[in-house]
Formats: sequence, structure tokens, C-alpha cells
Amino acid sequence: MSKTLLTATNISHAFDYPLFSSINFTLNKKESISIVGRSGSGKSTLLHIFSSFIKPNEGTVELLEKNLYSLNENELEKIRRYDLGIIFQAHYLFKGMKAIENLEIAALLSNESIDDKILKHLEIEELMEQKIGELSGGQQQRISIARVLSKKPKIIFADEPTGNLDKETAKLVMDVLLEYTESHNAAMILVTHDEEMAKLCNKSFRLENQALKEF
Ligand SMILES: Nc1ncnc2c1ncn2[C@@H]1O[C@H](COP(=O)(O)OP(=O)(O)OP(=O)(O)O)[C@@H](O)[C@H]1O
Ligand SMILES: [Mg+2]
Repeated sequence: MSKTLLTATNISHAFDYPLFSSINFTLNKKESISIVGRSGSGKSTLLHIFSSFIKPNEGTVELLEKNLYSLNENELEKIRRYDLGIIFQAHYLFKGMKAIENLEIAALLSNESIDDKILKHLEIEELMEQKIGELSGGQQQRISIARVLSKKPKIIFADEPTGNLDKETAKLVMDVLLEYTESHNAAMILVTHDEEMAKLCNKSFRLENQALKEF
């Protein structure tokens, strides 16, 4: 299979105002790319377009060499389930269940197993028997990251994954995501406000004046 996991061509989109025009973007295996930009510039929207959840006004997105707009619902669902790891700000953990049960469901749904090394690295292995509702916000956030990685995705889309975390914990989460990306031949697109975190990726872009500029 080719080394390219995502190709976006001439993407333009507007809601109340134009967000971007003619954006071209490629993501290869083992690559981590960060996107920064002002609030409201359209970073989350772009991530939703790249990850198949919004169809842009113009342009095409190919994931794993498949044009998203030529797939039926069933084929799209398969890609979302097996290949994409979505870390968005609102994390949908099952609140009444234990942490471990949340991870088991994710692993089961994609026929994978939970990686204890990742739980250790994220410093959540001691929390596994606790109910989600009993955990702090930052602990829940790390559980949700572990849950996404338990699926063994090929592409990680992360929108502010370290947003509510202290610096040290944020660094630890970044290390886990980057290490996963490298060691599993996967790739990551990270949206963040934190330029220090952004710089940890292989490439960094700023979304500004409706375009992506590398910096
Ligand atoms: N589903 C939608 N319907 C209408 N407008 C939307 C929708 N989603 C986003 N927008 C608008 O598009 C603009 C960009 O939103 P987006 O969430 O992509 O920005 P962002 O760069 O992620 O901002 P932030 O850094 O605050 O998260 C905003 O003005 C927002 O109101
Ligand atoms: Mg956003």
C-alpha cells in the first residue's frame, strides 16, 4: 500500500463566512502534522472534513486511497470504525461504566487488544477499576485517548487533546501519541493552541487568511 494515508485536494468551505479556499494537504505514514490558528479560523471544521464528518463545499478528500465522496454509508462506516482514531474535545465515554470497560468495548469493536504499555505511559493503569464519573476531567481525557488508541487506528485526528491538562501531563500525552504514530506506521493530525506542543510534530501549519502555511 502507498505511504499516503490522506490526500485533500482544493478544499473550500464556508459557513457564515468563508473559512478556507483551495486547501491542499497530504499526510503520510509515520507523519505527525499540527495545525494552529485563531479561534474561529476553522481548524475543527477542517479536521471534521479530513475525517469524513463534513463534506466541503468544494474539493475532495481521499482516505487510504479511497475518495470519501464515492463511498456508500457502509464503506464509510468501516473506515471510521477500523481506521480512524478520533480524539475530539467532547469525549464520549460511558459514564456509568468502569474505565477498563470503556477500553474493552473499543478494542472489541475493532478486534484489537488493549496495550498495557500505553496505560502505564499515560499513568492511568491504576484507574482501570474506577467508574468514569468518579474520575477527574484530565483523567477522563487520558482514558479517552487510551480508548482511541485501543482501536489501533491508522490515522489519529486529535482536536486539542491536551487542552485541559497541566504542562507535564500534556507532554506525556503528546509522547504517547507520537510514539504510537511512529511504532504503528500510523499518522496524526493535531489541532492545538499550544505552539510548544505543535512543534513536537514533524510539520506545523497555521490556518490563516483561509490558507494553511507551514511555519
Ligand atoms: N456546523 C456548523 N454550522 C454553522 N457554522 C459553523 C458550524 N461549525 C462551525 N461553524 C462556524 O465556523 C467557524 C469556524 O469554527 P471552528 O470550530 O472550525 O473554528 P476553530 O478554529 O476550531 O476555533 P477554536 O479554536 O475556537 O476551536 C466559526 O465561526 C463557527 O461558528
Ligand atoms: Mg476548534
